[in-house]
Parts: sequence; C-alpha cells; structure tokens
Amino acid sequence: MAQALYRKYRPQKLDDVLGQETNVEILKNAAKAGRLGQAYIFYGARGTGKTTTARLIAKLLNCEKRRDDPEFAKLGEPCNECRECLAIDAQNSFDVVEIDAASNRGIDEIRNLKENIRTSPASADHKVYIIDEAHMLTGAAFNALLKTLEEPPKHAAIILATTEFEKLPSTITSRAQRFIFKKLPKATIMEKLTSIAAKEKIKIDEAAIELIAAAAEGSFRDAESLLDQISSLEGAGTDDGKDGAKSKGISLADAERVTGRTGLKKVHEFADLIVKKDIKDALGYLNELNEDGHNLVQFNKDLIHYLRKVLSLKVNPSLKAVMERDLTRDEVAAAIALGVAADIAVLVKMIKALIRAYAEMRYSPFAIVPLEVALVENLS
Ligand SMILES: Nc1ncnc2c1ncn2[C@@H]1O[C@H](COP(=O)(O)OP(=O)(O)OP(=O)(O)O)[C@@H](O)[C@H]1O
Ligand SMILES: [Mg+2]
Ligand SMILES: [Zn+2]
Repeated sequence: MAQALYRKYRPQKLDDVLGQETNVEILKNAAKAGRLGQAYIFYGARGTGKTTTARLIAKLLNCEKRRDDPEFAKLGEPCNECRECLAIDAQNSFDVVEIDAASNRGIDEIRNLKENIRTSPASADHKVYIIDEAHMLTGAAFNALLKTLEEPPKHAAIILATTEFEKLPSTITSRAQRFIFKKLPKATIMEKLTSIAAKEKIKIDEAAIELIAAAAEGSFRDAESLLDQISSLEGAGTDDGKDGAKSKGISLADAERVTGRTGLKKVHEFADLIVKKDIKDALGYLNELNEDGHNLVQFNKDLIHYLRKVLSLKVNPSLKAVMERDLTRDEVAAAIALGVAADIAVLVKMIKALIRAYAEMRYSPFAIVPLEVALVENLS
C-alpha cells in the first residue's frame, strides 16, 4: 500500500512546520544556540504539528551532523541524512521512545521510563521520550513522572503532547516549557494541499481543495487524509491512459461527496434566500440538497456558522481580518454584502431558530423537517 500522504508530507524541518511561527522561532533559536530544553509540553488542536515537532526536537538533539559540524548546527535544523535522523524518521531509534499514554494509561510505560532514563543512550547523544495523549496518564503515572520531569539526567529530554492541556495537573505543567499549537487557517491548509496535489500529480479544482481545507477544521492531518481519500475516487484526477488524455480531475462535487459537506457557495446562496425572506425558493433549495444526498445536519451547522459571520460583520466590520482566517477575501466580501442587505432582527431570529432545529435534527430520522419548520415559522 502507498504511504499515507500525511506521513509522506510530515515536515522534515522546523521551517516546514506551517502556521506555528512563534513556536518555530523559539525552538529554532534554542537549537541554533544549542540550548534546547529537557522538558516540553506541546498542546493544542489535533493535527497541528505536536508529534511532528516533538520528533524534530528528537532529531535536533541527536543529529550527528549537528554534533560534528558547528557551522551546520548554527542553522538550527536537523540534517535528515545521518543515521540518527533516519532512525528517528523510521521510528526505530533505540534512544527515542514514543509512549502512547492512551493505551493502558501509561502505567507500565512510565515505570519503564523511570527505570531506563538514567542509563546512557545506546547510540545517540540523547534519550528522548515523547509521551503522546499525555492527558490520559493516571494520577499515579503523573506522580511517578514528576521527579524525573523536574530533574531529568543531562542526556535526556521528555516531551508531552496532548490535545487536552486542562487535564494535566499543574504540578506537571509548571515543570516544563509549554507551547500551544493553533488550529490552522484555511488558507494555510489550502497552500499545503495545493503543493501536495502538484507533487502527487493529483488534478483537483481549487474549489475542491477549498472544501477539503474547510472540512478539516484546522487540522492538517484531516486535510491530508481527505485528499488521500478523494484522490482514490474512481477515475478522479488520474491519467486514464488513453492517448495521454487526462480525466477531468477532482471537482467540487467529488469533494462534497467525500467530505459530506456542502461548498460554501451553496451555503451562501441559501443564506441569501433567507435574507430575502424568499421562503418558496428556500424550501425548494433545501429539497434539492436533500435529494442530492447532502448531509443536512452538517449543512445547517455550516449555515449557522455562516449567518453568525454575516451578523458579526454587519455589527462590527473590523472583524473582517478575523473572518479571513476561515474565508477567502471574496467570501468575506460576499458575506459583508449579504449583511448590508439583511435585517439584524431577521438574522438573529433565524440563527436562534436554526440552532433549535439543529438540536432536533441530530437525532431525527427526518432531518429535513425541523429545518423546514424553522424556515416557515420565521420567514413567512
Ligand atoms: N504545522 C504543520 N505544518 C505542516 N504540516 C502539518 C502541520 N501539522 C500537522 N501537519 C501534517 O499533519 C500530520 C499530522 O501531524 P502531527 O502528528 O504532528 O499532529 P498532532 O498535532 O500530533 O495531532 P494529534 O493531536 O492528533 O496527535 C503531519 O504528518 C503533517 O503531514
Ligand atoms: Mg500527535
Ligand atoms: Zn542528522
């Protein structure tokens, strides 16, 4: 089987870690000066670079070229070619141990860590322990870790990674350097997807890339997995072999099918009907979406988010910059125009009604009904 895209395109250098500029800058400066820490906590949303960066630190600490060539070390990046760098990439370095705290809640693993961390590394300069899903550790495991975290032997470093920082005891968090990993803006995800598609010769429309990036909700891994899934659609984006002719490539409709989401264009068109209080066409539109097999629960969720943005922009136009994290410039412009045409009272009433409908739809065998009722009740 081909290697998953998200593994193939895992950043090999700090410079390739996108959207986490502050973290990259601090870590790179530390690496340049040869002053990397011994205890780190990486926390934040899924698929944003925590495990990736932890492995990069392991490489930075153990890269042979960095050790042997002071000029190279000043670049603050691993070489990715020496024995240690390659072993870490292949996840078979004796001295870099990844612990999954979710399995067995880490009890045996932390005990092993305590026993083994004192002995010198087998072949590398440092022993690096990466504890993933660290919030799953038991109280006893946390306690066992405390002393080691406070005073690790000179040759060791410990990196905790978690999506749930609040679940770590403060006794642990106060003993480590903490780095937050932010959700990625849609535009950043789109850039990486576009470059992967080019390298993999996947032919895909920009609108499809955009929908994948939106559906990933800030996670690079989700975005890359969706691209993987979509690129294996029957005939999509591949050479069909006949006279070197290409198939059409992956379209927005393909992306809608795989992500179960509807493109923002449809959400905008529907919101426009709401603003115009065009109940007749709105019901027609909804039925069409339903017939075409769109997930209406997801559609309603997207619609609520969108109307909220329209309302916020109407009330406070300076939110434009914030909105451009999730939306393209054109989309923000369209949302602003929609807000100008809209009545605040109607927007507020509709958002409330849609949220109520959402709660009812989620467990209903006829998701369309609560949505239709909400429209009829509030627009006529
Ligand atoms: N900041 C980033 N820049 C570029 N690619 C990234 C970034 N973050 C994640 N990726 C991509 O997503 C994949 C998964 O990232 P990673 O394993 O580091 O996520 P994570 O933050 O540890 O997520 P989780 O909390 O789910 O463990 C990487 O292999 C890489 O392809
Ligand atoms: Mg991870
Ligand atoms: Zn190296």
